[in-house]
Amino acid sequence: MNFSSKIYIDGGDPAETKQADAMLKKAGYHGLDGQTTNPSLIAKRLMNNRKLTSKEAADGYRKTVEEMSNIIPDGNISIQVIGDPATLTAEDMVSQARDRIRWIPNGVIKLPCSRPGLEAAEIFCEEGPVNITLNFSQEQAAAVFAATKTHNYDVYLSPFVGRLDDKGENGMDVVANELSMYRASGDNHVQVLTASVRNIKHLLYALWLKSPVITIPFKIFSEWAKTFEVPPQDFIYDVPGLSEIPYRELTLDKNWTEYDIHHDLTDSGIAKFWEDWSSIVA
Ligand code: G3P
Repeated sequence: MNFSSKIYIDGGDPAETKQADAMLKKAGYHGLDGQTTNPSLIAKRLMNNRKLTSKEAADGYRKTVEEMSNIIPDGNISIQVIGDPATLTAEDMVSQARDRIRWIPNGVIKLPCSRPGLEAAEIFCEEGPVNITLNFSQEQAAAVFAATKTHNYDVYLSPFVGRLDDKGENGMDVVANELSMYRASGDNHVQVLTASVRNIKHLLYALWLKSPVITIPFKIFSEWAKTFEVPPQDFIYDVPGLSEIPYRELTLDKNWTEYDIHHDLTDSGIAKFWEDWSSIVA
């Protein structure tokens, strides 16, 4: 069995990683290609009847990704930087990235698609693989492309399609537009990792578009695993009620700081990750 995209699981529970990996292997695929995590998913796993110290929480995150890494040693595991967005600087993120990349041999550092996040990515992409998260616009994708030009390792970009759908916008348009923009440039150093997948339609369309990577929550994964359906050649992604996000002609040769990288959903996403993490840490 083969897919046109790499298949990752999105979650915070290694038991799900193990099950999803086994389901793929049983179906004749080599197993999961990777795993994404985020502070909300990890906080849910570490939640206890008392608050954790920040060391206990970081150790819990580390132990969780170690378990995931043992299950998929040939795939990669995203580990996110965490901190209060009001004070977390690019320097803090780089320092966390340098520490967290040593947690496991196959880690990828997840950085937010914010100004300090991209400042950190510009530096750290020469030292290790990065996954830029909370991406909601094609212009952010242009900035990520420019910020990571000098990378020495893999660079991933995670458009969150479900959260755009929630606002009545067609989130999968962002995936399609970013893939078209990168493909037209002839430089595919940024790999689009379709994230915030909420249903089988998202998954099928991302496969049809040949998004290099798709990360799937276990619930959707289990549903898909009943048949491991793939889209037919004439697949049509039909989502009445969602408004189109049109393709934009953007040049990729500017300095990344010249692009407008602001998106409200990026800001609210960063705030929510911090809120969820803070809810378990004293
Ligand atoms: O991969 C990103 C994912 O964890 C976010 O998904 O459903 O919270 O928008 P969601």
